[in-house]
Parts: sequence; structure tokens; C-alpha cells
Amino acid sequence: MAGEQLIELAKRRGFFFGSNGAYGGTAGFYTFGPRGAALKRNVEDAWRDRFTLKEGNHEIEAPTVMPEPVFEASGHLDGFDDMLVECGECGVSHRADHLIEDATSIADAETLPGSEVELLIRDHDIACPNCGTPLAGQDVEDFNLMFSTNIGPGDAQPGYLRPETAQGIFVEFPRIKAYARGQLPFGVTQIGPAYRNEISPRGGLLRLREFTQAELEQFIDPEDDDPPLDRVADVDVRLYPAAAQEADDGDYLDTTVGEAVADGVIGSAWVGYYLGVAQEWYERIGVDMGRFRFRQHLPGERAHYAADCWDAESEVGGDWIEIAGFADRGTYDLSKHDAHADDSFTVFKRYDEPKTVERATVDPDMSVLGPEFGGDAGAVAEALEALAERDPDAFDAETVTVDLPDDDAATVDTDVANFSIETETETGEHIIPSVIEPSFGIGRIVQTVLAHAYTVDEIDGEERTYLELAPEIAPVDVAVFPLVSNDDRLVDLADRIAGDLRGHGLSVAHDDSGSIGRRYRRQDEIGTPFCVTVDRDGLEGEGPDSVTVRERDAARQVRVPVDALAEELAALLGD
Ligand code: GAP
Repeated sequence: MAGEQLIELAKRRGFFFGSNGAYGGTAGFYTFGPRGAALKRNVEDAWRDRFTLKEGNHEIEAPTVMPEPVFEASGHLDGFDDMLVECGECGVSHRADHLIEDATSIADAETLPGSEVELLIRDHDIACPNCGTPLAGQDVEDFNLMFSTNIGPGDAQPGYLRPETAQGIFVEFPRIKAYARGQLPFGVTQIGPAYRNEISPRGGLLRLREFTQAELEQFIDPEDDDPPLDRVADVDVRLYPAAAQEADDGDYLDTTVGEAVADGVIGSAWVGYYLGVAQEWYERIGVDMGRFRFRQHLPGERAHYAADCWDAESEVGGDWIEIAGFADRGTYDLSKHDAHADDSFTVFKRYDEPKTVERATVDPDMSVLGPEFGGDAGAVAEALEALAERDPDAFDAETVTVDLPDDDAATVDTDVANFSIETETETGEHIIPSVIEPSFGIGRIVQTVLAHAYTVDEIDGEERTYLELAPEIAPVDVAVFPLVSNDDRLVDLADRIAGDLRGHGLSVAHDDSGSIGRRYRRQDEIGTPFCVTVDRDGLEGEGPDSVTVRERDAARQVRVPVDALAEELAALLGD
């Protein structure tokens, strides 16, 4: 289905629509309507269930406004830019790399320097998509995507709306590690809004200025790439490795997670583990696996600190879109905060066996080195201690010589009275953990499941459109209709049944307007898995006290006793 059709259906049926329409609309902001808000919440709950609860991870909720030093440390202040070119004629700004990608066969133009992009704009006669004026000769600028603000009155404390939920997790690491008792590995999750002042928002929920992320930071020992891989080793995955993309033969690698990790196609076992978990989860929430793949980042596409990165991609409206990223970020994030902040971003790694180490203790007093030495005694002491750690046997000789800064050297008598080597037992060391980061965009998942659920078939010779949504995420579990709306007994019974089902935790819609066929069609279009129709047979003493339950996909109908309805529906919905 074309993207526009989906966006039209989303608006008509209350899934989502452009925000602030009464004030002319604001590009890049979408409001979720009653159906969309429920669907989005169900997707978030399913994500929480799989990536937080089932993994035993810790969930946090951090503020969305963060002070400037956070983004100095993270690198966002300097480098979170897109390339902007503004049309000299109509003043509309465009993402220069997107213009290049649309006009040429270059796939990752964002990795090119601005000067090269300017040349490509000229060489390919690229014109402004808004007014058609040639863009050659316009400067390509770096545009920082963060929304800035001030914290408190005045401008003494600049702040930014977070461009990713991840920073809230990294910044609180010194405290969170205590909740995890400092034991690696442990994972921390957060679901919440992120903000990016995108140059060209587009595609409904695909590129927004405010969107919801669900991110997981898995903190691991950099020397210990050992996830519980067995749990997902047999999961089938469709991979699109960098080598296949470079060969340009379009060949996918259909394999299992276990094999891909064993063969080194996926470089990090933890990344492989989460690809397997994600594959099963996407399938569970109704992503069409025929329109889904994991694509490895090309070397030029990866952040400089990322050892390996894979995107989950789904096909929507004929295009492949990135719906999540799975990155091995190494120690980059925590090292940066460790260097910039006042707190410690390390954990204590206990050795399997305590280690005995010899340490030189040196009195930095000049007298230990003899009156003839005129150099920096502190530097000598430091050099001696370093040598003792490296090579304690060097002190068996009568004198030791150490190199000092500025090409100096000092020779020290090992018998000097207050120079000693002490043996210490160390039980561990402080290390900076590595991070494996699965990062999901909830809106892109919502748009994917809607696009993949959109189905057109024929019932009784009539075309019908329905959303084949997984019951777990459908916005409405069941709709309850009185067969006719002018019979109070049927209306009352339908109300009573709806109340009873709500009491059982089901989300229930009521509809008594129009023919029953039209009501079924309306529910089909929002993906309601079951409809219950109350007719006279449901009334006590008038029939077998049963109602009609109609299942969405096959439009099959069965009679179910009123008393057994809640239990039966809960079982059918998989609750
Ligand atoms: N912490 C890593 C990170 O934020 P990202 O690839 O920039 O990585 C992760 O974003 C996910 O967030 C993407 O895969 C996408 O699903 C979603 N996302 C990013 N920018 C978005 C935008 N402007 N609108 C909607 N979703 C977006």
C-alpha cells in the first residue's frame, strides 16, 4: 500500500494525524488519536515485556531536558548535525544528503564532506524540490539537530531537549550501577520522547521532530562477549551484510543467529543475541517477515566509535526504512562521561583469583636520591613505581635506571633506606564497561505494523479493507453491538456484556449506528480482532442465552454462551 493511503486511513480511523491543525499545522509533529494512542501503548507494553521484564533489565525514566555539559561530553553539541542547503529563491531548507541520494546512486551521502556535496549538487543540476530553482552555488551548512532551551530564567544554564533517550541512562550510570550491585552484565531500558529538529520531516511517523524511542543499554565487560546466546541461537534471520551490499548483488544471507555469530558475520555475540530477540519480537507483534531484514552498516556509515552496527529495516510503501539500530558502542559513552563528569563511570571487576602485585614505595624526598641528584624527585618516584609494576626483578640489581620526561634519566641505588618494594594483594580493578545498544523508534514500528497489517480481500462479492493486527497490539480487543439499536433489552444486554468484558481487562468498543455489516467494516478497518453481536437469543428465556462472536480475518461467526464469553475471548486473545 502506498504511504499516502496508510496516512489517510490513519487519520480517518483515529490512529494519527498532523498536530496543531487548528493553527495551520506544525511539520514534524503528530498526534496519536484514540486508536493510535492505544496501539502505541500496546507496542510499548509489548516492548517493555520483552526487552525489560523478560530480560530482567532495569527500567528508568529520566528528564527530557538535560544541561549542556551532558551534550559536550556525549559529542552531540559538536557533531549531531545534518547537512542543510537553503533555496536562495523560496527560502525552503532541504537535507542536502537526501537530495543527493534521490538524484544519484549514492546510498550514504551523509558521510560525504559538505564541499563534495556542493559539487554533486552542481554536477547533477539538483533543483529545489519546492520551487524548482537550481541549488548550485548555495552553501551546504552543518545544522545541529538539537532543540535548545534555557534552564531557569536568563541564559546562565543552557539546556537541550534530549535527542535520544540513551543519554538519560548513561548520565545516571554512577547511581544505576549501584542498583545492579555493580555486577556486569546488566541492562537498563527507557521508553520516552526524544527530540530532533529535523530539516525535512516526512513520511508520517517516519521522520518526526518529536518521537518516542525505546532504548536498551546493555553494559558488559569489554573482555566478555558472552550473552545467553543459546536462547536465540536457532532463530532464523535474514541478514544483509555489508559485503553483500558492497557486491551490489542484492543477496541476503538467510541463516540462524547462532551460525551468523559463529561465522563472524555478526561481529559481537551480544549484538547477535539482541538481533535474535528482536526478530522474535517483531514477529510476535505482527511485522511481516517477508518485508523485514537486518542490514549491516557499511564501514563509512558507522559512528567512529562503533565496532559493528546493524539496522532492523522494514519495507513500507516500497521503501526500506530503519526501524531500529543495534550497535556495539564499545566504551565510548561511559569513557566520555567519566572524563567530563565529577562521578565515576567505572565498575569494580573482581579477579577470579586475587593477584599479588609488587609496588615500589618511594619517598619523594630528595634525600633518598642523594645530594648529587638535581632533578625532579617526584617524577623519579613515579617512574620507579611504574618500573616496579612492569618489572619488579629490575630491583634485584644494585642500581636501577629510569627514563624521565625531556630525555632525562636517573640512576637510583636500590639500597637507599627509604625505598622499598611492597607486596600487595589485589582483588580486582576498576573498568569502564562497554555498551551494546538496541535502539527502537516506536512510531516507525507503529507505521510498519499498520502498513503490514493492511489487507484487502473480498467478502460475499464485496471488497473489504481490514487491518490484520496481532491481537496483542490491536487498539480494541472486542466490539460489542446490539443487533438493533431500538430494542432497549438488546441495548441493555450489550452494555452489560461490554461492562463485564471491561471488568475482565479487555478494551471494548461499543457501536450501535448503521447496519451490522457497516459496523463490522468499521471495526475491520481499525483491526479489532473480535466483534460480539447481541440478538434476541442472548436474552434470558428467549433463546440459548448466547451471542455471535465474529472473528476478523476469516469473518467466521460462532455462537458463544453469554456466561462463557469473557473467558473464551481472553483465551482467543492470548491473555
Ligand atoms: N541512541 C542511538 C540512536 O538514537 P538512531 O539511529 O539515531 O540511534 C534510533 O535512532 C531509532 O530512533 C531509529 O532506528 C528510528 O527508529 C528512531 N528515530 C530516529 N530519528 C527519528 C525521527 N526523526 N523520527 C522518528 N523516529 C526516529
